[in-house]
Amino acid sequence: MNVRLMFSIRVEPLFTTRPYIHPLIHKSAPIGAFFVSYNAPRYTANIMVSESSSVPALEIIGLKKTYAGTKKKPGTEALKGVSLTVPQGEFFAFLGPNGAGKTSLISIVSGLATKNEGQVQIHGISIDEHPDHAKAFIGLVPQELNFNIFEKVIDIVLDQAGYYGITRAEALPHAEQVLKDLSLWEKRNDMAQHLSGGMKRRLLIARALVHKPRVLLLDEPTAGVDVELRRGMWDFLRELNAAGTTIILTTHYLEEAEQLCRRVAIINQGEIVKEGSVKGLLSSLNTATLLVDTKDPLKLADMELLRGYPITKMDDTTLEVKLEHKQSANDAFRKISSIGIEIMNVRNTGSRLEEVFVNLTEKK
Ligand SMILES: Nc1ncnc2c1ncn2[C@@H]1O[C@H](COP(=O)(O)OP(=O)(O)OP(=O)(O)O)[C@@H](O)[C@H]1O
Ligand SMILES: [Mg+2]
Repeated sequence: MNVRLMFSIRVEPLFTTRPYIHPLIHKSAPIGAFFVSYNAPRYTANIMVSESSSVPALEIIGLKKTYAGTKKKPGTEALKGVSLTVPQGEFFAFLGPNGAGKTSLISIVSGLATKNEGQVQIHGISIDEHPDHAKAFIGLVPQELNFNIFEKVIDIVLDQAGYYGITRAEALPHAEQVLKDLSLWEKRNDMAQHLSGGMKRRLLIARALVHKPRVLLLDEPTAGVDVELRRGMWDFLRELNAAGTTIILTTHYLEEAEQLCRRVAIINQGEIVKEGSVKGLLSSLNTATLLVDTKDPLKLADMELLRGYPITKMDDTTLEVKLEHKQSANDAFRKISSIGIEIMNVRNTGSRLEEVFVNLTEKK
């Protein structure tokens, strides 16, 4: 049986502190994961082959994080033993209210914060045993802007490639592609401080993608981004995912998770309170609420005729239809039409995932 493998070669010149990690080639070979080390007088070369079809993109077991307290203030237990598996190719969201632990989790996975307990593996590589190898699989879009605003856009992206041992010349073609995809190429010679807020967020994404990571972690990628730009980012992320990149994001926007993601984990007070497919979570809802816009203003007599149906008047030209679990909307629509009301439009009341979310996080 043949599977696609990802090879990365790490060549570490002695006496330097910056590792050289270069994603190289895809090739067919039998299932397995192994390390080969080659020791030359001045260089250590580790050829790491990680089987890339059945190993999860991310595996977290019993992750705990407590931020140290002070004499006056006790420490904060941000993660209380989180376990989770995200397969490769997944589009996954962490949903949770402020302070739930989302950034703490993303920061530990990407090596920015230390954990107290637990294990994290990225493409089967332990972040404790081989942190540089594990990190090479990841691109991180942090919640806060963290680039030097006095640097040029192109330099911010190319310098990031340098952290993975990719030279500016090697990185340039892909950097150009990514900046074009994110409509930032025209701005490449501008200082980052001259970008708009939305452009700065896109620059974070471009920077995260320059070394072609297999897993993209995005912490609140569309916070403060206008609706049009948000939809553009969604399309970009969908295409990236379709091309094989695993995407894991955190978001407050339930619509974002509902529109983009196949699976979600709802996290509250440092614990995963629900995990599953978006479809599955939505089907656990008992009711759905639809808004029906009518062509003409509703009359009192209309409402009399609708008595006994789960239909209420919201305003002169809007009806609310509440459906129980698995109840068909057709009966209600048929009744509305049968009394001579012309339906112009039917709308969802908003994110249905929000109902699941509120139910779960309110219980706490
Ligand atoms: N550096 C830190 N030092 C101390 N406590 C911290 C630190 N970072 C986070 N915390 C605390 O850990 C908890 C989880 O915070 P975290 O930033 O992970 O939440 P979040 O889910 O990302 O929230 P938000 O949606 O607001 O970004 C919070 O109680 C927070 O105050
Ligand atoms: Mg956060």
